[in-house]
Amino acid sequence: MAKFATLSFNDKSIELPLIEGSENELGVDIKSIRTETNLITLDPGFKNTGSCQSAITFLDGEKGVLRYRGYDIEDLATNADFLEVAFLLIFGELPNQEQLEKFLTDIKEESYIDEDLKKILESFPSAAHPMGVLSSLTSALTAFNPTSVNVEIEEDMYKAIVRIMGKLPVLVAWVFRKKAGLPLKYGDYSLGYVENIARMMFRKPNKEYVANPVVDAALNKLLILHADHEQNCSTSTVRIVGSSHAGLFASISAGISALWGPLHGGANQAVVEMLEAIRQDGGDTKKYMEKAKDKSDSFRLMGFGHRVYKNFDPRARIIKKAADEVLNDLGIVDPVLDIAKELEAEALRDPYFVERKLYPNVDFYSGIIYRAMGISTETFTVMFALGRLPGWIAQWREMRLNKEPIGRPRQIYIGENKRSFVPLNKR
Ligand code: ACO
Repeated sequence: MAKFATLSFNDKSIELPLIEGSENELGVDIKSIRTETNLITLDPGFKNTGSCQSAITFLDGEKGVLRYRGYDIEDLATNADFLEVAFLLIFGELPNQEQLEKFLTDIKEESYIDEDLKKILESFPSAAHPMGVLSSLTSALTAFNPTSVNVEIEEDMYKAIVRIMGKLPVLVAWVFRKKAGLPLKYGDYSLGYVENIARMMFRKPNKEYVANPVVDAALNKLLILHADHEQNCSTSTVRIVGSSHAGLFASISAGISALWGPLHGGANQAVVEMLEAIRQDGGDTKKYMEKAKDKSDSFRLMGFGHRVYKNFDPRARIIKKAADEVLNDLGIVDPVLDIAKELEAEALRDPYFVERKLYPNVDFYSGIIYRAMGISTETFTVMFALGRLPGWIAQWREMRLNKEPIGRPRQIYIGENKRSFVPLNKR
């Protein structure tokens, strides 16, 4: 096989080296194009542009394959603990018992919040969206932990990592509890990472907390499924902010803001709101299918379609099954689950969706599970952020250890040519 691709321009031919990934994916290294030809490459939305070489997550969108560090997502979601997966993503290997215990102990050491940061949370209006609050508080962690900002060596990186792994669940639980009007309390650190998150979130002030293994297991699974997804919008944001050496907490805060959008992680909120609106409108799924296909209508079938998956999102398969199990186990009948299944069945046989390869994505069913657990719609994306945390950390760490250059795309300028300033009184 050729080791180069050839680009011809203005009677000049240049050879561009091919880069081969461990799953035989091929890329063209275009770094020399500008120096050799003065051309830049233009690819809005980075639809066909690789920003890095990464050893963390493998995704084959045509076949519907997703692996973290070589392990199938199905295998991890069925057998692993979220903290094991976090360790795997960040450090590259599944931990042994001793490594896992040390990781958990180090995280627990950091699982508290400065009381002044708590005051900031308390001063947000109760109508504030939890994602905006979480992003602000994560950014504020930078001010409260200055030694974790400009980290260069692995030891300092590790300290910053366990800090954010310890503090973000507390912030998530508190953001949720503030919205629900519940007191802001800490968890029980004798519990495991996920079990403690469930306790911090769901404990009521007027009764003894009793863990629900169904909820704990579902939460563990959802967090694993959300843990990484290679160079998506929020992860690319984390890497690009981190590339300026802005620090881990600022990078994660930017990632949370990127995740918030309804075209990305915010879709889980948008899906349940859409399903609820369809239910309240009489449950006519066909009417909404027609709206989704009508180009003059801005309505989209939320939770459908994906930039990379042109096949079933493997996470959606797992989550759909989990939604059935969790609702059954909790004895909840949620009519929006039936509406979701009806929409899915219709979309899978509709030529519009089939031709465009639009399948349910990770967000189509996840909100239904969160809702069954008692999590408010606006907090769904906060749960996604909590799950994505280890992925963002792993990608940030890889980028820093690889000493990647600052992210700085180019553009083709299409504005005015040079013109002279006209004073205000002459305009
Ligand atoms: N409903 C109806 N039509 C859709 C949908 C949808 N959900 N998604 C894509 N299409 C159509 C587009 O209108 C377009 O049609 P055209 O070729 O006739 O113009 C075609 O399918 C391709 O869509 P694009 O928007 O060009 O695809 P892109 O890769 O840019 O966008 C995205 C992917 C943003 C996920 C899109 O499918 C979408 O908006 N989905 C709904 C929001 C959503 O669920 N987001 C969560 C994604 S998963 C995650 O980020 C965690």
